[in-house]
Amino acid sequence: MGVDLYSPNSWVDGVPHDELEELRRTDPVHWQDMPEGGGYWAVLRHADVVEVARHPGVYSASLGGVVLEDLSPESLEMMRHMLLAMDPPVHARHRQPLAPTFGARVIGEMEERIRAISRRVLAEAAERGDVDFVHDVAAHLPSQVVGELMGLPAEDWPRLHRWAERQTAGQDPDVAGADATGEVGGGVTGEVGGGVDDTMSASVEMAMYFIELAAARRAEPGTREDLFALILATEVDGAPMDDVSVGSFCVQLVTAGNDTTRTMLSSGLDALLDHPDQLEALRADRSGLGAAVEEILRFANPLHYFRRTATTDTVLHGTAIAGGDKVAMLYTSANRDDAVFAEPHRFDIRRDPNPHLSFGIGGHFCLGARLARLEGRVFFDELLSTFGRIERTGAARRVRSNLNNGLKALPLALGR
Ligand code: HEM
Repeated sequence: MGVDLYSPNSWVDGVPHDELEELRRTDPVHWQDMPEGGGYWAVLRHADVVEVARHPGVYSASLGGVVLEDLSPESLEMMRHMLLAMDPPVHARHRQPLAPTFGARVIGEMEERIRAISRRVLAEAAERGDVDFVHDVAAHLPSQVVGELMGLPAEDWPRLHRWAERQTAGQDPDVAGADATGEVGGGVTGEVGGGVDDTMSASVEMAMYFIELAAARRAEPGTREDLFALILATEVDGAPMDDVSVGSFCVQLVTAGNDTTRTMLSSGLDALLDHPDQLEALRADRSGLGAAVEEILRFANPLHYFRRTATTDTVLHGTAIAGGDKVAMLYTSANRDDAVFAEPHRFDIRRDPNPHLSFGIGGHFCLGARLARLEGRVFFDELLSTFGRIERTGAARRVRSNLNNGLKALPLALGR
C-alpha cells in the first residue's frame, strides 16, 4: 500500500521524503488511486518529469487541466483560457505577445520598486516585532508587486490577495475558512476546506473584477503603460482578446504570482532558520543570494505538482500509460532525485549546478520566474539588512494540501 500521495493529510506534517525516495527506486511511475474513483500516475524521477513536460502532444495540459480533480465543464472551459492549460499551437500564440513583459529588461527595471515595497513591508513588521511571518510579512510583497506591475488601484490589492488565497489553498479548512478581512479563521478542523468549487468561485469573482476593470480602461484608452494595458492591447490571431479571456488571463497572473512567491519567502526563511550557519553565511556575504534563492526553490518548492492528461497510449520509463490517464509531475520528488542532485536532502545555499524543476520546464516554464527570483533576492537582502535578530516564537504550521507545499503560519520575533 504505502503512502497515499493524493490525500492532503499525507503532506500536512511534512513531505513524505522517505516514501518518495523509495518509490523513485522501486516504482518511479506510480499509480495512485483517488477516493472518488479513478486515479493518476505520479511521476517521481527528474528525467521523467522533464520527459512529460517536454512532450505536450502526448501529455496535454488542456484536455483535463492542470490539477488532479475533475472539473465541471464550465470550470474546465474557464481554465482553458489560462496559459497553464493551453496546448500548442494556441499556447504559443497567447504566450509570445506577453513574454517581453516578463523579460530581463522590464523585470530588471522593477528592482528598485521591489526594494521599496520590501522596505515598506519590513518597516511595518519591525513596528510589530512579533509577527506571523506568512501573513503579516511575506504575503504582502507578491500581492503589491503584482498589483504594481499590472497597474491596479492600490485599494484593490487586499481584495485580490484574498481571492488568490482562496484560490490556491482550497484543501485546507483554516485557509478556506478565512473571513472577509482575510485573516485566517480558527477553522473547522479535520474537514476538507472550500475545495475545488470555492477555488473556482474565487476565480470567477476575480475574473469579474478584471472584466469590469477592462471596460473602465477601454473607456479611457491609451492613458496607461502597465501590464494590464498590454494585455488589453494584445492581439491573438489578429484580434484583441475578448473580455472573458482577459479576465481569466489576469486571474492566472495574480494567482500564479501570489501564493507561490509568498511560499518561497516564508519556507525559505524557515529553511534558513533550520540551518543557522547558512543564514549567517548569507548575512555576511550577500553575493550568494542568487544561489541561495535557487536552493530554497529546490528544497522547499512551492508547488508539489502540475497535471497533464495522456492524449494517446504511451510508455513512460517502462510503464504503460493509457490515453486519457491523468499524469502528475511531482516536482517535490524530482527535486530530490539523487540521479541529478548530490546529497539531495541537504540544504546547501551554495549548490551548483541546481537544475530544480520548481518553475516547471518546457513550453509552460514559469513566465514569472525572473520576477519571482528577483523578488526573492531583493526581499532576503532587505530582510537581513533590517533584522539582526530573527527568532522563532512557535512552531511553523503547514498548509494541508497535495498541491501547495507551503506554510500557513510561521510565528517569529524580529529585532533590529
Ligand atoms: C516562486 C514563485 C513561483 C513558482 C514556484 C512558480 C511555479 C510555476 C510552475 C511550476 C509553472 C509551470 C506550470 C506547468 O508546467 O504546467 C508556472 C507557470 C506560470 N507561472 Fe509561475 N511560479 C512562480 C511565480 C510566478 C510569478 C511571480 C508569476 C507572474 C506574476 C507567475 C506566472 C506564471 C504563468 C503566467 C505561468 C504559465 C506559463 C505557461 O503556461 O506558459 N509565476 N509557474
